[in-house]
Amino acid sequence: MTFMHTGSGQITQIYLDGSARIDCPPNLIPSPGQYLLAHADASDAPLPVPVFFYDSAPKGFRFAPPCPSSWTIGTKPNLRGPLGHGYSLPSTARKVALIAVDDVPARLHGLVALAMKQEAEIVVVSDAELNELPEVVEVQPLHALEEVCKWADYIAMDIDRENLGQLKKMFGKQEQAAAVQEAQILVRVPMPCGGVADCGVCAVIPSVRHDWKMACKHGPVFVYHDIK
Ligand code: FES
Repeated sequence: MTFMHTGSGQITQIYLDGSARIDCPPNLIPSPGQYLLAHADASDAPLPVPVFFYDSAPKGFRFAPPCPSSWTIGTKPNLRGPLGHGYSLPSTARKVALIAVDDVPARLHGLVALAMKQEAEIVVVSDAELNELPEVVEVQPLHALEEVCKWADYIAMDIDRENLGQLKKMFGKQEQAAAVQEAQILVRVPMPCGGVADCGVCAVIPSVRHDWKMACKHGPVFVYHDIK
């Protein structure tokens, strides 16, 4: 179980890709797929925004894009977290596929170091331009999805809620395979209350049961089979 903390952070670097480095207490650092809710006073983002782990950094971590446009170096957002369920890479996984369906694989990036530690082979599937991956990571375009899914023994995906419907078509015949393998999916949605006010903005419809799932607390990483 992860305990939730509150505190403040400070932006120390903003990168060209829209990611940023934040200094914060170590107990606030989310694991890959988890998030912090961040809110800066006098911000152009009136509601808190989810901030996802991208990479390790001294005194804090680097978070995935986008960084709110009004945040600059020195901005001190209030932070709450870590929140939600992140990815859980099985210790037995040796063929890891990280699939960024409609964005850069920044929110998946934290799994690269974990998979390397257990000597797994890693393939990133993405059509985005990628330049910050270790050399041992193979990169494949989205049209190789079917082949990569046949090969993998663990699949981690990242998708916007609006594109969930398209994913099924993209998987084609591999739909079944992805359901059978260990497959997890991060569903990106606005998560303004982080479960505190039950606002329902982050609702995702599950496949089997008919009760709505809240990405902010039941996710944002789900077992793929549960929501496909
Ligand atoms: S963000 Fe409000 S219920 Fe999920």
